Amino acid sequence: MEKFEVILCIITLLLTLTSYLFRRKKKGEACKRERLPPGSMGWPYIGETLQLYSQDPNVFFANKVKRYGEIYKTHLLGCACVMVASPEASRFVLVTQAHLFKPTYPASKENLIGKSAIFFHQGDYHTRLRKLVQSSLSPKALRALVASIEDIIASALNSLAGGHVITTFHEMKKLSFEVGILLIFGQLEAHHKEELKKNYTIVDRGYNSFPTKLPGSLYRKALLARNQLSKILNEIIYERKEKKSSQKDLLGSLLSSKDDKGEILSEGQIADNIIGVLFAAQDTTASAMTWILKYLYDDPQRLETVKAEQEVIYKANEVGNLHLTWAQTRNMPITHKVILESLRMASIISFTFREAVVDVEYNGYLIPKGWKIMPLFRNMHHNPQFFNDPQKFNLSRFEVAPKPNTFMPFGSGLHACPGNELAKLEMLILTHHLVTKFRWEVVGPQSGTQYGPFPVPLHGLPTKFWKESTTYRQHGRFLIKDAPPFSRT
Ligand code: HEM
Ligand SMILES: *[C@@H]1O[C@H](CO)[C@@H](O)[C@H](O)[C@H]1NC(C)=O
Ligand SMILES: *[C@@H]1O[C@H](CO)[C@@H](O)[C@H](O)[C@H]1NC(C)=O
Repeated sequence: MEKFEVILCIITLLLTLTSYLFRRKKKGEACKRERLPPGSMGWPYIGETLQLYSQDPNVFFANKVKRYGEIYKTHLLGCACVMVASPEASRFVLVTQAHLFKPTYPASKENLIGKSAIFFHQGDYHTRLRKLVQSSLSPKALRALVASIEDIIASALNSLAGGHVITTFHEMKKLSFEVGILLIFGQLEAHHKEELKKNYTIVDRGYNSFPTKLPGSLYRKALLARNQLSKILNEIIYERKEKKSSQKDLLGSLLSSKDDKGEILSEGQIADNIIGVLFAAQDTTASAMTWILKYLYDDPQRLETVKAEQEVIYKANEVGNLHLTWAQTRNMPITHKVILESLRMASIISFTFREAVVDVEYNGYLIPKGWKIMPLFRNMHHNPQFFNDPQKFNLSRFEVAPKPNTFMPFGSGLHACPGNELAKLEMLILTHHLVTKFRWEVVGPQSGTQYGPFPVPLHGLPTKFWKESTTYRQHGRFLIKDAPPFSRT
């Protein structure tokens, strides 16, 4: 079966390739070559795709920047692209002239998530959805979630302890999924959650597979599971309407939204956006948390510094008997820097895609209508002009704010990540629990990155966890909790 599938894939690929080559012949002639940015377009159809995939993408893009400068053209995966790697050009594309560039994703991915999801849109519909998503992620909304997020994280970490090898990235994915469910549905009934989780896992697996609808393919299974997800969501929505409950979670705000004409969102639109948010929230956050574990493990000195910060809070909370407060999470300066530096080092969203909706001129160069534009976040984050000695993990660099538009782990402008504060909150709470209660050891290779498509430490960071020995904790408890009043000074 598997071999058969591979052969069919190759045939499909060849067919697309030939038809593409024929189309390309005609189109090529109209190119206004003289004003295009510098760069090489490589081979027909595959362009420079092979060069990109045969080496570290970091190095591929960095060499290009060295050779051609802040803006250059190339040809990747069948698209003519303009890459931008300077703060000014990124700001131009994402912020000041954002209306000239629309988000663009392969149709196969759009179909899996759902065409009405927020990130595929521009204009009024996008603005409306963005307000809804942002309101469920506002500081006020997040403050109300701190305790529940902490419970999810504490129980996830407890389940890992025992010294057996676990794949950190997988476990972090489970965790970020749970938080996503909490954000969207508040408390969700267990049977709904299980069905969502199982069907969503199938969608997730199909997302990066070859998009063929042939029977048995991962992509086809994913499309079928995606239909199941719509059914489950419709059931949840139906039950909620029956109960006439008005909850303040994301589903609640999507359900109660009306536009200027009084129109509500359709069930399809709601489903697409729920799947969209789950998707945007899960792997990104899981990847960031995995890197944090690695970077803390890599340097015992660094770990001690973070521990010292977190243990003060831990003791103040009666050695973990009280929940973390929102105010405490706002006051973890060292841990916060670890998060920022991890996001810079790992650059989880290495770049993003836009498409020019008209011919656009930038600094004398033409970006033709229909071309893709890719702001290269990772290259800016690893450019020694902006971040001294960029391969080095160095918390001190965040003692001053980075130069404007050089640090964009969450993007910028109209489509900037609305989940950034939630993601950071998860990372802060995770770090608090990790360093105050656990010890961990990375097993296997200590370096190397894999892309799936987000960068993750090799093999998802296989790790062993133990509950930290209780001497310190019992000592702490005795001091704070069980001691008779007269000994408290
Ligand atoms: C460390 C974790 C995360 C990273 C690095 C990250 C990064 C990003 C980036 C770079 C973008 C902009 C993409 C572009 O401009 O094309 C984005 C968009 C988005 N993110 Fe995140 N994200 C993270 C976590 C989350 C979480 C937890 C949520 C939701 C709870 C979320 C929801 C979204 C949504 C809905 C968008 C689309 C916004 C729009 O199109 O208007 N993200 N994210
Ligand atoms: C997917 O959801 C349906 C409900 O619509 C459920 O019956 C089915 O068991 C779920 N699939 C898996 C693999 O769990
Ligand atoms: C870390 O960064 C700071 C500020 O950029 C710099 O002064 C310091 O020398 C760096 N430390 C190391 C060990 O590279």
